[in-house]
Amino acid sequence: MARKKIALVGAGQIGGTMAFLAAIKELGDVVLVDIPSKEGVAKGKALDIKESTPILGTDIDLTGTSDYRDIEGADVVIVTAGLPRKPGMSREDLLEVNTKIMLNVSYNIAKYAPDAFVIVISNPLDAMVWLMKYMTGFPKNKVIGQAGILDTSRFKAFVAMELGVSVREVQALVLGSHGDDMVAVLSQSTVAGVPIKKLIPPDRLQAIVERTQKGGGEIVKLLGTGSAFYAPAAAAIEMAEAYLKDEKRVLSCHAYLEGEYGVNGYFVGVPVKIGANGIEEIIEAEMDEEERKGFEKSANHIKEVVEELKELLKKLASADSLPEGLTEEVWEALKKKVNG
Ligand code: APR
Repeated sequence: MARKKIALVGAGQIGGTMAFLAAIKELGDVVLVDIPSKEGVAKGKALDIKESTPILGTDIDLTGTSDYRDIEGADVVIVTAGLPRKPGMSREDLLEVNTKIMLNVSYNIAKYAPDAFVIVISNPLDAMVWLMKYMTGFPKNKVIGQAGILDTSRFKAFVAMELGVSVREVQALVLGSHGDDMVAVLSQSTVAGVPIKKLIPPDRLQAIVERTQKGGGEIVKLLGTGSAFYAPAAAAIEMAEAYLKDEKRVLSCHAYLEGEYGVNGYFVGVPVKIGANGIEEIIEAEMDEEERKGFEKSANHIKEVVEELKELLKKLASADSLPEGLTEEVWEALKKKVNG
């Protein structure tokens, strides 16, 4: 059986960590793609990881490149291209700059890897994953956003730390947007089968929820340069693995909703089943009334960000001359999309 091929667009902190995880797990051959000025970084990380494989005892090949032709035939493409946050920035502050990057990236994925399962990580995720689907025109089972696994994992880690139990005993679900109004579904969260609300007093639980909601910001502040990368990388690799191995995992991910949860035409974090056909099912999670209201608020926020994105796309499409940061062909593709 031929090896699987995983293309990682963006060879930065998350990209490099995912490549290493793919090597440890022997998931398939890896192609790290970055811009021409960072081609050395992509090649260097690829070679460094290849040199670790005799120690790891795994057989995969890794390539670093700035040429999108190298992603041809990829089974999975994971996108982290874009700028990360600096202290004090919200994810939405990245909208304009990362939109231009994502326009270029999505154009090339559509051109060179039309059959891939595409996982978007770049922020603001709520908008970037929508843009990926809009520009590639890929079906909704093949475009997915990574956020909920990370947010759920942060919540589980804090609960385990609070109770002094193994993280493996914590079952939880964080849904909605990848922003401060994400929803921790406490009514469905348990530790070894016991409802979490019975184990942790309300004020402590509230503090854990808030820490989860601001979990990305906490790391940004601590690191000083850049944002979290180990946990985001682990989350995206879990999604890629579920797809490549047809695992039928049920994971919290950003999926394109068409009526489910009362949402139409946006990507929102919900539990989805991932297997060889990508998103095989969208699962309706149980929520109490307060959680449902929180979810609606979160979904409305996503809608606002995507509307802002649509305005930005119109502005770029109707510019008098080629907007800075776009290539002629990408601009043409955008104009075609926006003007029908
Ligand atoms: N094509 C390919 N790679 C690109 C492009 C492009 N058009 N534009 C930028 N990149 C690359 C950058 O050169 C950089 O190497 O994307 C990489 C991003 O890496 P980092 O700056 O290290 O950021 P990282 O921590 O990996 O986060 C990436 O994920 O979580 C989000 O907010 C985060 O949007 C950010 C993204």
